[in-house]
Amino acid sequence: MRIAVFAGDGIGPEVTEQAVRVLQALEINGLELVEGDVGGAAYRKHGHPLPAQTLEIARSADAILFGAVGDFSLDHLERALRPEQAVLGLRKELGLFANLRPATVFKGLEDLSTLRPEVAGKIDLLIVRELNGDVYFGEKGTRTLEDGRRQGWDMMSYAEDEVRRIAHAGFKAAQGRRGKLCSVDKANVLETSQLWRDVVIEVSAQYPDVQLTHMYVDNAAMQLVKNPGAFDVIVTGNLFGDILSDQASMCVGSIGLLASASLAETDGAQGAFGLYEPIHGSAPDIAGKGLANPMATILSAAMLLRHSCGMEAEAARIEAAVAAALADGVKGGDLGGSAGTKEIGDAVIARL
Ligand code: IPM
Ligand code: MG
Repeated sequence: MRIAVFAGDGIGPEVTEQAVRVLQALEINGLELVEGDVGGAAYRKHGHPLPAQTLEIARSADAILFGAVGDFSLDHLERALRPEQAVLGLRKELGLFANLRPATVFKGLEDLSTLRPEVAGKIDLLIVRELNGDVYFGEKGTRTLEDGRRQGWDMMSYAEDEVRRIAHAGFKAAQGRRGKLCSVDKANVLETSQLWRDVVIEVSAQYPDVQLTHMYVDNAAMQLVKNPGAFDVIVTGNLFGDILSDQASMCVGSIGLLASASLAETDGAQGAFGLYEPIHGSAPDIAGKGLANPMATILSAAMLLRHSCGMEAEAARIEAAVAAALADGVKGGDLGGSAGTKEIGDAVIARL
């Protein structure tokens, strides 16, 4: 197995370093790690946030462990050169269309949520977000209208095959969990959403064991704070998924613990190509200080072993070690504790 390690910007390098240490501590035979530059760090070195050599490393790998990208000091650059283009480019170039973002409350950490503990404690959901289409990748531009006003525009669209494959991913995920799938759209206003809904209903015929419901995105935002425990799997488009997954992570209250996977196939086959990253960003305010909590990246490495390497036992070992460290009170600043980045890495490794 060849794993590409793209640490990126801000706290990316320090949290990734700990996840790599955890992977190495498992002493998995034939696991090869290759580093590559992405984001602002890559722009500074090579003049591009996703240099050709990085893309080549990605294509030669079986999976990617990703830190974070983002650097405010580069926000003045034209869009194509900004750090975020590294992650958008990798998603598109590598066909990573299925983004799995689990949100669960670790036992004993219910108080971290801004929701009441009895509400937060019930959160155990998975957002399946489409990652290759929607308004993110449609034509876009700015133009000047005849009367001289400037106008910005972005094209939102989904083709039926794009909806179908992410719908299958949602249904399969639900089969592996509590059997409930909620498809989120805005079909009362958007044509894109009406087609989305029609296609999801068509696909549902193949999954009689999954209970399908539909919800408008504004209502879903409300329900996520009102009764998040009612959700099992949510399947939604790129833009709505971006927003709802941040909201779900905050409902849990510990963004420093949430991992994610972006997969190029979801046929249930073990060994899918995927990119794995913490859902938090580059956190420039604490970068380089050894304060960042690496647990989300460590848990992303566990997802990598599960989905791309077919190593369920090793993945579960990492997850159990993180849970044990938390139970023993090993907490980063984001969880109200004082453990540093390396200290948390050490604590997880000690509990493997
Ligand atoms: C995410 C991020 C990205 C997105 C940004 C960095 C482009 O917010 O992964 O959710 O919008 O998809
Ligand atoms: Mg986001």
